[in-house]
Amino acid sequence: MRIINEMRLDFKATPENEAFARLAISGFMLPLDPTMEELADVKTAVSEAVTNAIVHGYAGGEGMVCIKAAYDESGELQIQIIDRGRGIEDVQQARQPFYTTSIDEERSGMGFTVMESFMDDVDVQSAPGAGTAVRMNKRIRLRDDAVPQRA
Ligand SMILES: Nc1ncnc2c1ncn2[C@@H]1O[C@H](COP(=O)(O)OP(=O)(O)O)[C@@H](O)[C@H]1O
Ligand SMILES: [Mg+2]
Repeated sequence: MRIINEMRLDFKATPENEAFARLAISGFMLPLDPTMEELADVKTAVSEAVTNAIVHGYAGGEGMVCIKAAYDESGELQIQIIDRGRGIEDVQQARQPFYTTSIDEERSGMGFTVMESFMDDVDVQSAPGAGTAVRMNKRIRLRDDAVPQRA
């Protein structure tokens, strides 16, 4: 992976910033000229991970969420969503469809499943008390006329 563009964004863990995170990642990947579908997939996956950081990682408490993203000249996009919140005891269990620790009816336990279906690869690193880092990759298919511009 020869990185040609990268970014890092730190923001407060508050629901108001979920829309901001979606727009930020959209803007960052725009030079890859993604299709509407690719764009929607990435926005949805990022949204799920950011929401998890806010509602589970910090559980309404104070904290910061970090998004790092980079892409290479082949259109391989790598995104990390990092929190320093409570962490996950059993990552394998947390990734199971319909598994949720939330009693809130809005949470269906499908967040990780959504990330996995919309991205090519999802890796979760977490430690109780230390936080969680979700790394996701997606290959954005380069169209003939679209060569990513060097910044
Ligand atoms: N960033 C995080 N910090 C702590 N726990 C998390 C985090 N992300 C996910 N989890 C745990 O994994 C579970 C499953 O997450 P997810 O699939 O998104 O479902 P949901 O958010 O609907 O509960 C959550 O209920 C929570 O227990
Ligand atoms: Mg979730």
